Amino acid sequence: MSLDQYYLLGRSGLRVSRLALGTMNFGTSGFHASYGKTEDESRPIFRRYLDGGGNFVDTADFYTAGESETILGRLIAEAGVRDRLVLTTKFTNSVDPGDPNAGGNGRKHLIRALEASLRRLRTDYVDLFLLHTWDRITPAEEVVQTFDDLVRAGKIRYPGLSDVPSWYAARAQTYAEAHALAPMINLQLPYSLAERAIETEHVPMAQHLGLGISAWSPLGGGFLSGKYRYTEQGLTGDGRLSLPDNPSRKWTDADWRLLGTLQRVAEELDVTMAQVAINWAATQPGIASAIVGASSANQLDTTLAALDFEIPAGLRAELDGAAAPVPESVYRMFTPDYQGWIINPGAKVGDKPAGYQPPVRNWTA
Ligand SMILES: NC(=O)c1ccc[n+]([C@@H]2O[C@H](COP(=O)([O-])OP(=O)(O)OC[C@H]3O[C@@H](n4cnc5c(N)ncnc54)[C@H](OP(=O)(O)O)[C@@H]3O)[C@@H](O)[C@H]2O)c1
Repeated sequence: MSLDQYYLLGRSGLRVSRLALGTMNFGTSGFHASYGKTEDESRPIFRRYLDGGGNFVDTADFYTAGESETILGRLIAEAGVRDRLVLTTKFTNSVDPGDPNAGGNGRKHLIRALEASLRRLRTDYVDLFLLHTWDRITPAEEVVQTFDDLVRAGKIRYPGLSDVPSWYAARAQTYAEAHALAPMINLQLPYSLAERAIETEHVPMAQHLGLGISAWSPLGGGFLSGKYRYTEQGLTGDGRLSLPDNPSRKWTDADWRLLGTLQRVAEELDVTMAQVAINWAATQPGIASAIVGASSANQLDTTLAALDFEIPAGLRAELDGAAAPVPESVYRMFTPDYQGWIINPGAKVGDKPAGYQPPVRNWTA
């Protein structure tokens, strides 16, 4: 069973399942209420994940206005699994509109948010504490110093970032390294066959700086399961993306064409489209884990089998090509063809003989 193979998260000693359980839909209040689940509906989803050997669970103070954390806290206590879980939560969103320091990433809110999360989660520490979204205001140094204080105070084991520009993450990590502060080990970002923008900047940055990426919405919120159809009225199908009060991105002709390739690959492998989509995302370069969401334990069953097979190279190339991001502007100069022209006209970068090792410079010579 793939869930009980644990991988190191970023440059750290923390071992996590390659499929994390997302609990954004646990609870029936706030922003995610329209497709939220009650505690009784959430319990079998959580239990199924644990039964499969999963140890990586994701929530945030913002999800269902705090209910996700409250439900999760009760379910964890009920199952008696606090210590074996890698419990992740996040802060940023305002908890008191009108109070300028009750939201964002400044030290005052960061600490207040963590204390409230710990109360709701019924624990005295979280394993992974993430800045949820860049606030465009708080200096990276302030966030990193505060994270380090919280690690030393025993309230968080590891810090990380979600939904930040790559330059901000690079600045934060470099500052932490330069000052021997607790480094970030995780970067949580949107990533799926239908959402590949992070490949340009975030993935190479994370690989160089020791940040393991957790891919959120690896199914595009359900789109890649293949259950939606395009009609004159827009997208239809049985799931949260067709709810009128659930804003999701606009799906383009290219997205609908991508589904055709995904379906062909799934048929050839005799698995579901959802399984191929999750497998692809979880096994892409730089991706440490995919955070999957589920509306029921049965749905999660399908998802949890997503790493029980390998996508052969030929089919993987078809998927890669079906929705590859097109490099724009300066990024065109970082493509293999252009780089080959810079480094060695006529030769392609990557044309190295088998066993090639880059020369090691002898600094004493
Ligand atoms: N850091 C961030 O900003 C951020 C943002 C978003 C999410 N997240 C995290 O990522 C987690 C996952 O996000 P997500 O829910 O968008 O992930 P997702 O895996 O792309 O979508 C999950 C949804 O797809 C549908 N689905 C799942 N399995 C299916 C199957 N086998 N067949 C058909 N439909 C299926 C279900 O919705 P329906 O039944 O309604 O179709 C399910 O809720 C969240 O819970 C949260 O922890 C983080």
